[in-house]
Amino acid sequence: MPIRANQELRVFLVLSGALWSLLGGLSGSFAQEAPTGNPPSFYRDVLPILEQHCQSCHHAGGIAPMPFETYGETRPFANAIRRATQQKSMPPWFADPNVGKFSNDPSLRPTEIETLAAWAEAKSPAGETKDVPRARPGVESWSNRKADLLLRMPRTVPLPARGDIEYTYEIVPTNFKEDRWVQMAEVLPSLRSNVHHAVVYVRPPDSNWLRHAPVGVPFTASTLTDPEDRRGAHWTDSDVLLVYTPGSSPDAWPEKMAKFIPAGSDLVFQMHYTANGRAASDQSSIALIFSSHTPEQRVLTLQLTNDHFVIPPGVPDYRVEARGTLPHDATLLSFLPHMHLRGKLFEYNLIRKRMGTEGKPDYEIEPLLRVNYHFHWQMSYRISEPRFLRAGAELQAVAWYDNSKANPHNPDWQAEVRWGEQIYDEMMVGFFDVAVPAGVDKQHFFARTKERQQVQ
Ligand code: HEC
Repeated sequence: MPIRANQELRVFLVLSGALWSLLGGLSGSFAQEAPTGNPPSFYRDVLPILEQHCQSCHHAGGIAPMPFETYGETRPFANAIRRATQQKSMPPWFADPNVGKFSNDPSLRPTEIETLAAWAEAKSPAGETKDVPRARPGVESWSNRKADLLLRMPRTVPLPARGDIEYTYEIVPTNFKEDRWVQMAEVLPSLRSNVHHAVVYVRPPDSNWLRHAPVGVPFTASTLTDPEDRRGAHWTDSDVLLVYTPGSSPDAWPEKMAKFIPAGSDLVFQMHYTANGRAASDQSSIALIFSSHTPEQRVLTLQLTNDHFVIPPGVPDYRVEARGTLPHDATLLSFLPHMHLRGKLFEYNLIRKRMGTEGKPDYEIEPLLRVNYHFHWQMSYRISEPRFLRAGAELQAVAWYDNSKANPHNPDWQAEVRWGEQIYDEMMVGFFDVAVPAGVDKQHFFARTKERQQVQ
């Protein structure tokens, strides 16, 4: 899931200055008359929209190539902003609006789109700083807060210019003397262009996972000598602290809910790098904000996975599904679908079994999220009103793949495609976060009679 085509992005960055000033220069010839009297101004009308809907990515050091924090930074992009918001390519969001409501949906209201357009048409006036509305809706953006702790991978990872790169791990000791609850976390790659995705796991001191692997240096599964470690590299029941995909991080958990890091734990960074034509190196970090007090509930990241599919060559809509039942009560918080280049659509459903006519079981499917998947953007979708589910609730994830010639991202439509790490292979992972009582960990949550184990 390369989030952006690196090649394209580089071209975009080089061109952007020239291109935007060109567009800026042209705009006058077809701009409409500014609404007389009262055109929108940057400080009064535009900045509040940017703060709420754009700055989570468009801040200095954010995932977008240019910040929109000051007038000077934003003005050159006024026309581009008008166009992107009218076409709804920005802010990026791929959930079907008819299914579910999500608290991190950044979509603009029609009046906001009009305001941005009118501002560009009026030649983007600044207005006055005193006009910034005082009572602005709470802006809880990461860029406004300082991390309590920044943990960096101790060693840089050298990346080749070309070829496949095996998943790379680095174990980072936290040296926490006490248990810690994490309210907000963000993975900060030092080389965003090459980080395809990353998963940061919590390894408690009593876990045997990767116990013989070296600490504080990068390694891959194939360099491990212990067979148990080698097998374990890819499949672990350790809790996930955070999944980084461009567009998805930072993650903040709702009030009274947090992620748990037991005293003495290590963080295990699992990095998926892609080569992009130039040798480079990365040294990613994770920024953490701790909860001020013990939360009522603990957040666990679970996943619905199917790794047994074979997508035939040329097929435009191949369906793969995974199902699982929750062993205990849990509150559903958010989703993060993960596929690669052939990903097309991803759904999460709740399945209810009823006795139908003639004594045959009947299934009722309630859709929870439907994503028109775009491999550049792997986003998380946070449910507006977290959903309490009883033990035994059955969840289904359905993924659709386009392995036809018509898919512009398809690297080889004649290939038969299976599960694999590399982006020309496929994945089918429906991550989702649930909240459980604070004292329950993943092992306890799954302690139940052995049955289907697809929810991991
Ligand atoms: C989730 C992250 C994210 C959010 C939120 C976001 N952007 Fe972007 N934006 C990007 C990235 C990354 C790029 C670089 C181009 C790309 O990868 O598509 C970009 C590019 C752009 C561009 C230049 C390319 C184009 O499409 O014209 C404009 C203009 C833009 N964004 C405007 C906005 C505005 C306005 C908002 C808020 C209303 C917004 N963006 C919200 C991430 C984001």
